[in-house]
Amino acid sequence: KRGLKAVGPNLTTCHPSYGRTDLLVNCCPSGFQSPVPLVDFQFPDPQSPLRIRRPAHAVDADFLAKYDKALSIMKSLPHDDPRSFNRLANLHCLFCTGAYDQQNYNAPVSIHRTWLFFPWHRMMIYFHERIIGSLIGDETFALPYWAWDIPEGMMMPDMYTNKSSSFFHTERDASHLPPNTADLNYVSDTNISREDQLDINLSFMYNQMVSGARKTELFMGCKYKAGTEGYCDGPGTIELAPHNALHTWVGSSLNPGREDMGKFYSAARDPIFYAHHSNIDRLWEVWTEVNKHQLDITDPDWLESFFFFYDENLRLCSGYNQTGLFL
Ligand code: C2O
Repeated sequence: KRGLKAVGPNLTTCHPSYGRTDLLVNCCPSGFQSPVPLVDFQFPDPQSPLRIRRPAHAVDADFLAKYDKALSIMKSLPHDDPRSFNRLANLHCLFCTGAYDQQNYNAPVSIHRTWLFFPWHRMMIYFHERIIGSLIGDETFALPYWAWDIPEGMMMPDMYTNKSSSFFHTERDASHLPPNTADLNYVSDTNISREDQLDINLSFMYNQMVSGARKTELFMGCKYKAGTEGYCDGPGTIELAPHNALHTWVGSSLNPGREDMGKFYSAARDPIFYAHHSNIDRLWEVWTEVNKHQLDITDPDWLESFFFFYDENLRLCSGYNQTGLFL
């Protein structure tokens, strides 16, 4: 039984929302019919092949060719297909700008700047990855991750800057393309040498992953609970930066909100979003290992929060946060 009190969206309440303080956006699926038949999320068959995510700066030509093909198919699907690239990008807009109300409460669902950040994005890229793989009939397909926490990965991976590939995207800051070194705590442009920037980045990573993240709440973010009173605004170390900082760093300085990557409503339109979040997902796992403990959140408000995602067979799956732990 679904927890009655945990955070989860009421899908029938989709409404336009503010993508920026000055911009109303409507990311709701059009022609939405209610109620939608739901299936409970099932774990993949344990016999099914393991998907192994690799660093984006080190993937080989075969991988790139198949991902490129899958992504162009995904981009060409009609908008009424929930597997289409734009519909999947809108998912981020829906859950991140308050387009849905919570079930049983008159309060918006939001999954940023709180402890729902890691699990929600894990689920989002998990389903995205399954859909991509199914479009090319490859059950082993795994997203690449942008390994910005190690020196070799501290710039936009080359694959995203190839103009003739489906990974290319115009709405990015032209002055931050390779070989420009990423500033993991980006606020504005500086003239720091690559060598110094790498050092600064590495000590910053140590702070965000280790010294500044010794307690679960510091890393995961504040305890957001259902209802208006449950609202909180306290991002975990990694969410704040490098996560937010790199969203801003990638997005185009010519757009008012540094779209696309710079704002929640538009961020997932840039293919690099998925590599960025694969790294976030990986760092969640790394943090758990570094701290030599399993995630110790036992609060039902977290464990029973729930979301809905289409799978590759167009089934709308409902999954508890709890399931997210083991994906
Ligand atoms: Cu939902 Cu990288 O943001």
